[in-house]
Amino acid sequence: MKLRYKILNGLLAVVGTLVLALAITISYSPGCTPPPVVASGTETMKAVVSRCYGGPESLEYLDVEKPDPGPNDIVVRLEAAAVNPLDYHYMRGSPYVMRLSMGIGRPDDPRMGVDFAGVVVETGDDVSRFAVGDAVFGGRAGAFAEYVVMPEDRAIVAKPDNVSFEQAAAIPIAAVTALQALRDHGRLEAGEKVLINGASGGVGTYAVQIAKALGAEVHGVCSTRNVDMVLGLGADHVFDYKQENYTDSDNEYDLIVDMVGSQSLTANRGVLKPGGRMVIVGGLKGNWLAPFWQPLKAMMLSPFIDEEIGMMLAEIRSEDLEFLAGLMADGRLGSRIDRRYPLADTAEALRYLETQRARGKVIIDVTALSE
Ligand SMILES: NC(=O)c1ccc[n+]([C@@H]2O[C@H](COP(=O)([O-])OP(=O)(O)OC[C@H]3O[C@@H](n4cnc5c(N)ncnc54)[C@H](OP(=O)(O)O)[C@@H]3O)[C@@H](O)[C@H]2O)c1
Repeated sequence: MKLRYKILNGLLAVVGTLVLALAITISYSPGCTPPPVVASGTETMKAVVSRCYGGPESLEYLDVEKPDPGPNDIVVRLEAAAVNPLDYHYMRGSPYVMRLSMGIGRPDDPRMGVDFAGVVVETGDDVSRFAVGDAVFGGRAGAFAEYVVMPEDRAIVAKPDNVSFEQAAAIPIAAVTALQALRDHGRLEAGEKVLINGASGGVGTYAVQIAKALGAEVHGVCSTRNVDMVLGLGADHVFDYKQENYTDSDNEYDLIVDMVGSQSLTANRGVLKPGGRMVIVGGLKGNWLAPFWQPLKAMMLSPFIDEEIGMMLAEIRSEDLEFLAGLMADGRLGSRIDRRYPLADTAEALRYLETQRARGKVIIDVTALSE
């Protein structure tokens, strides 16, 4: 064998070994460490924590130290929280590549949950936006707990008086994602025609309503049992994916918002208008490459096609929460609540969400505490 082929083979072997070593390292889950001991006299609260990657059974419902507020912080006593696919991705540390930022082997941060609504019970000395007694909702790591502590300038806003705590708690991740997918990434305009694939789930139920509020003609995709619900949310037409494939229809869309990844990019392009847009919000599940295939293909295809296809990552921002609170207060947006679980049963809520059969949002009732 020539020397250059020997060098090439050697390099390939080194790269292969490094990739394999990285794959083994990031997929290894050594199990839980014992729970931290809370010193006697410390003020505690109930919380759901994740100290090792795994299924819902790996979550623990514990007494943990109640965090103290800094000068710019507010303390919120939660009334309700909501579960999202993001929570089970954190719980499992999956796709494994997430562990590069979350912690190799075990999560660095045991707090679980993001979406919440509750009442401000304490404020730091420099807080000016909120006062004790304010009803609020927002997004903050550690929302599967009795209290969250956060700086007042983060993703938290006043809850409209005519909106319940559970209606508000359901909003942050799912509705902000729907809003940013339609308005910011999809640039949806009044009179345009949009297709929402996954219209009956957490993001989809908001996407249908927000697209209507933006003045679009809305087509949704869901299974037979959810067709009436999606029509009830305001969709102008619904495809029952058990009976028909939306990519076989004669419709042409300005925008497709895809939560599911059930159809190929080529098939989706077939029902996009020339120059149309497609926003990939979610897709196939998997620990390794499956979730990234479609976004990667879209990235590679983009320079060669007229349509705009790309993946988005939502960011919870106060101004978007304010906008959504306004729609809720006006009665133009509502949270479609599927099930409610007490805080102690958060693991069961996530087990249900992982079936990918939730109809709208799944709520954690934080007022229903159990020992
Ligand atoms: N990119 C981001 O920033 C971002 C943010 C939030 C969420 N996400 C992702 O977006 C996806 C959706 O989130 P979600 O909160 O809406 O999840 P979800 O509530 O668990 O969605 C469940 C819904 O998916 C529907 N569904 C399942 N298979 C379907 C299919 N083949 N065709 C059409 N609908 C189908 C189900 O409807 P049926 O029971 O009728 O089948 C169910 O109502 C997830 O993958 C999530 O990780 C991404």
